Amino acid sequence: MTHATIRIIRQEHAALAAMLRSIVMLLEQHRRKGTRPDFTSLRAMLFYVDEFPEKRHHRKESELLFPKLRARTPISRELMDRLDNDHAWGERKIRNVEHALLAFEMLGDSRRAAFESAVEQYVDFYLNHMALEEREILPLAERVLTAEDWRELDEAFGRNRDPLTGYPPEREYEALFSRIVNIVPAPIGLGAEA
Ligand SMILES: [Fe+2]
Ligand SMILES: [Fe+2]
Repeated sequence: MTHATIRIIRQEHAALAAMLRSIVMLLEQHRRKGTRPDFTSLRAMLFYVDEFPEKRHHRKESELLFPKLRARTPISRELMDRLDNDHAWGERKIRNVEHALLAFEMLGDSRRAAFESAVEQYVDFYLNHMALEEREILPLAERVLTAEDWRELDEAFGRNRDPLTGYPPEREYEALFSRIVNIVPAPIGLGAEA
């Protein structure tokens, strides 16, 4: 049986990956056509990344999952240091991308390429990060964590779920998510059971 924590992490990764890829695709389309993107939608998407993956998902990994793993095994500690470091820098990186977006919006085409490259770097960074967690950390967790560890993790990861994985958003996020869901192709089936 797969633990709820593992399923939730994979689903939230899939939602973030879909969101990031759709931003890249959107920018490519506008570049080809020479048009300006819908900046309000782009701001909504980047704001989501800042509110959910950055402040909730990554934080739970660094504050709950990794410490439990470090307590159970000496394996992969350097990798977890690196992933913790990614988490610590993630918020700064997304702010840089948001700033580059604002520059493109305010100053126009002279800042298009800089924004596109900021997005591409950010997307590569997080796709690599999530791939490492799925390849190295989740299988290790399945090997070494105890039933008690899983109870605590399942409870924590079950809270504040990412609405892009099909969970009803909290009231204050409703408008933001209906805007985003209309742009991003549903990657994993809205309403998916977890
Ligand atoms: Fe992470
Ligand atoms: Fe993660």
